[in-house]
Amino acid sequence: MAFVVTESCIQCVYTDCVDVCPTDCFRIGPNFMVIDPADCIDCGLCVAECPVNAILQDDEIPQQERNFIQINAEMSQQWRPITKRKAPMAEADKWSHVEGKARLLMLEPASKGA
Ligand code: SF4
Ligand code: F3S
Repeated sequence: MAFVVTESCIQCVYTDCVDVCPTDCFRIGPNFMVIDPADCIDCGLCVAECPVNAILQDDEIPQQERNFIQINAEMSQQWRPITKRKAPMAEADKWSHVEGKARLLMLEPASKGA
């Protein structure tokens, strides 16, 4: 069991979640954040921090977003840790209202500019 970052985070990356995580298990990519399931202790503190409700417990993820469980597990092995809040992505507030952002997810191994 772990908490998982899902589609709403894409193109927003507000990073409010990072500040409250006691185990520093967030990893950042080009336009998305993931949780390392090996480090997450299921405290749930990050859930309420996310302005777009992107963080869900893995058994509460709707069917169409269940692939994010694997995306979090895989990309947390490639992306770098982030332990302090930073500015959100440009136009994050615009993207926060957009659905169907999964096609925009960038999965390059290395994060840039964060
Ligand atoms: Fe970190 Fe707790 Fe959120 Fe897991 S549930 S990512 S340990 S704040
Ligand atoms: Fe993403 Fe929400 Fe954190 S938008 S970076 S999961 S606060």
